[in-house]
Amino acid sequence: MQVKIKKIGVLTSGGDAPGMNAAIRAVVRGCAFQEIECVGIYRGYQGLIENDFEELNARSVRNIISRGGTFLKSARSKEFQTKEGRRKAYENLINADIDALVVIGGDGTFTGALIFNEEHNFPVIGIPATIDNDINGTDFTIGYDTALNTVVEAIDKIRDTASSHNRLFLIEVMGRDAGDIALNSGIGAGAEEILIPEEDRGIERLVESLKKSRKSGKTSSIIVVAEGDKSGKNIFELAEYIEEHLEDYEIRVSVLGHIQRGGSPSCFDRVLASKLGIGAVDALINGERTIMVGIHHQKVVSVPLEIAIKNGAKYDKNLRRVADITSV
Ligand code: F6P
Repeated sequence: MQVKIKKIGVLTSGGDAPGMNAAIRAVVRGCAFQEIECVGIYRGYQGLIENDFEELNARSVRNIISRGGTFLKSARSKEFQTKEGRRKAYENLINADIDALVVIGGDGTFTGALIFNEEHNFPVIGIPATIDNDINGTDFTIGYDTALNTVVEAIDKIRDTASSHNRLFLIEVMGRDAGDIALNSGIGAGAEEILIPEEDRGIERLVESLKKSRKSGKTSSIIVVAEGDKSGKNIFELAEYIEEHLEDYEIRVSVLGHIQRGGSPSCFDRVLASKLGIGAVDALINGERTIMVGIHHQKVVSVPLEIAIKNGAKYDKNLRRVADITSV
């Protein structure tokens, strides 16, 4: 069913991700193509509450596809978690004659959109953008591929110094609840060990495995640790524990931090963002609402927001097996 949408608002929210600008650009140009007006909302839901709006057209988003971050800025809004805050946001949308909202972000962003829609029956569409790749119903989230490549490049550099000094490095990567970055970058960079939130295999096992690889002749090792790993120790405590139980190595720690969130988006992320941005505008025109546009087997799919926000830790056990075998 075609619904007459005349003006769409677009915002970015939550942790920023490389490719968000490409997604904004696709939404704005998708609107221009359909002769729909588009309004950029700065600083996520907080800007929605504060009426921080700017009309956007096809020229407004020139030369941003290659830029990391989000020119609309992002923020985590405590006020939007209140009924009063969401009412203010709703009034601002109505006063600006905005008919529908595209929100680009992660599970926190989608949860807010779902509650907002339930309270105000306002059409919202989500575009999954977070480096964590922890959104249900989509094979990939925007920013994940770029972050992976950033992490692998960093680990490769650390591997040079680790092997020069016969050291063991513990490298912390982002991923509060999902080990996608840790597992895939660990395999990609040939890490000896990988610790992820989805499965705690015990630090005793870790030490035994390091002893085994030492005996097999390894003179340096890399352990990739997801920040949400469930060992019960932070990365510095982990280093201490290993030092106490494994005298063979000098140990160093590297926390990659927010470098993983920056950088020019990869081509994969630019194309993904462009497909999902156009997909979001198409979905709104076709009358869809409270869904996320995701990617599945390279096709754009619509996923109900309540499914998208479910914690579906899609831990790939086969990938763990690949990591274990290729790291011996
Ligand atoms: O959700 C994306 C993410 O980068 C997580 O991987 C990380 O734990 C978190 O955001 C960091 O949040 P902040 O930028 O607010 O410190």
